[in-house]
Amino acid sequence: MDRLWYGGDYNPEQWPSEVGEEDVHLMQRAGVTVATVGVFSWAKLEPADGRFEFGWLDDVLDRLHAGGIRVDLATATASPPPWLVLAHPDVLPVTEDGVRLSVGSRQHYSPSSATYRRYAGRLVRAIADRYGSHPAVEAWHVNNELGCHVHRDYSDESAAAFRRWLEARYGSVDALNEAWGTAFWAQAYGSFEEVMPPRTAPTFRNPTQLLDFDRFSSDAWLEVYRAEARILREVTPGVPITTNFMGFFKPIDYWSHAAEVDFVSDDHYVDPADPAAPVFAAMTRDLMRSLGGGRPWILMEQSTSAVNWRRRNAAKPPGMHRALSLQAVARGADGVMQFQWRQSAAGAEKFHSAMLPHVGEDSRVFRETVALGEELASLADLVGTRLSARVAILFDWDSWWALEQPATPAELSYVAIVLRWYTELWRRHLLVDFAKPDADLSAYAVVVAPATQVLSTAAQENLAGFVAGGGRLVAGYQTGVLDDRLHVLLGGYLGALRETFGIRIEEFAPPAEPSLSGGPVPALAIHGLGGGTAREWGEIVRIDDAEVLATFAGGMLDGLPAITRRRSGGGSAWYVATAPDDLASVVDAVLDGAEVEPALPHPVDGVEAVRRGNRLFLLNHTDQEIQAAGHRLPSRGAVVSPGD
Ligand code: GAL
Repeated sequence: MDRLWYGGDYNPEQWPSEVGEEDVHLMQRAGVTVATVGVFSWAKLEPADGRFEFGWLDDVLDRLHAGGIRVDLATATASPPPWLVLAHPDVLPVTEDGVRLSVGSRQHYSPSSATYRRYAGRLVRAIADRYGSHPAVEAWHVNNELGCHVHRDYSDESAAAFRRWLEARYGSVDALNEAWGTAFWAQAYGSFEEVMPPRTAPTFRNPTQLLDFDRFSSDAWLEVYRAEARILREVTPGVPITTNFMGFFKPIDYWSHAAEVDFVSDDHYVDPADPAAPVFAAMTRDLMRSLGGGRPWILMEQSTSAVNWRRRNAAKPPGMHRALSLQAVARGADGVMQFQWRQSAAGAEKFHSAMLPHVGEDSRVFRETVALGEELASLADLVGTRLSARVAILFDWDSWWALEQPATPAELSYVAIVLRWYTELWRRHLLVDFAKPDADLSAYAVVVAPATQVLSTAAQENLAGFVAGGGRLVAGYQTGVLDDRLHVLLGGYLGALRETFGIRIEEFAPPAEPSLSGGPVPALAIHGLGGGTAREWGEIVRIDDAEVLATFAGGMLDGLPAITRRRSGGGSAWYVATAPDDLASVVDAVLDGAEVEPALPHPVDGVEAVRRGNRLFLLNHTDQEIQAAGHRLPSRGAVVSPGD
């Protein structure tokens, strides 16, 4: 398409058919270019086993086409109809404590269910046969938010699939025993048949079993995608395929899923009440661009104002939706879509905002909808343009899963740690890519590894090679502690990177709240770079061959290294053994002299600057007017100007 995608989920099945004409007129007024159709239409498309009713959808697609609106056509497989579940209860997923979930909400199926796959496959083929060459169809939208509600399924059918997955991975049960460390707690298995998914158990389950079940479950969802995509590619090889991701979504390793879609798309719902929301949204946009290898992506869902699923659902203040939509475009999106076009009159989402609210056209939200459509039309020349970053942050689902397992030195949040580093780069208007630890890093001057706990041998060597080749690598605590079987990298952690950093880690010593008397986690003091207070983590670092840039002060860590650096050739390896409150100074020191180019030379509080193509996007996320780069930015306002 030579226009940006703009529109939303369109659910005409919730309305009498006469509303359809009005929808198209209002969509035209709003500058809608694409509608996502059919996401939850299975029960209407196939009201009884094998009886397909396409007439209504024919009308919808024809009407949209006549109105010049393209269609992102869903395969409608996200919610099996009640008749299917009644006839085949085996499609229902089972929780880790053995509860079989019921019909009556949505997405009630196991990704491993052969029955589900058979029925879904038949539906997808019928839809592809009927609409694959319909002139309105722009793309296929496989399923919807795979894994959204049912992250993992612990049914017997999943257990069998898990065993097959393990057999393919390990080849023999001896290899599995070795990898899982089953000598511990008498867990040794005599055959694959004895292995279970990590169902509810008396206490800590085997860590590698947990990790492998996370990997398996992510792959099971990928199999659901593949089964549909295979049919679509066979019937309509020319139509691009996507499935909508959910940003930093723990259950699915999006690196593997992204490798199989034609373009990445994402659903992102900011919490308007959270001051960190714009930064987290920016970080998510950067992840999406990175998942697609830099190709443009689509923001597939966002809300025009409030959602309905938080405890209290703040409305978006005027301007916020526009600024965050432009943010997505600035960070590589070729379109911004919303959930949904017309606000529902019934059902669990009737209080969720939409492009056309309950009250109708004469509303703030619809006026903003129309204005955004106009503005996006004026940015059509950006379609297809790419961005390039010189700074990367490692992001790794194995590390996420491992770091947040139970039985660790301290409960940590992987994404919160990543966000702290990202925020410092965002403030400086530096574009950030995310990368896998074993990815080619040669495009980057600076790579940050926050809590990248799991490093395979290949990843350790990759990072060591990055520094040897002249790169700046910054590792935070809990990086390189475990290999990809979750076995400890013995002898001071870090594996092959021990020489790169010139340190060994002798002992973890995170500050912790006293368990009997309670109370907050105490702060640590540090002297030197990033001096002041520090939180969350402390440890005993031993120097082999590195400079000490900061030390802990007081307590059992008094005088021990908190931040170190080892330079070699043109490269340098920084190790940050805590979370300094003044991370800004640390990042300044890391970036000093690095070949990186911010979109604006200096941070301006609350202002985000990004360059894409020939445009400079300046976004004011505060409720104050701000002057930046010679522009007056109204509160929650944005200016898009020719870049240079
Ligand atoms: C998404 C989903 C949509 C809608 C939306 C509400 O999870 O894909 O269908 O439910 O959330 O925020």
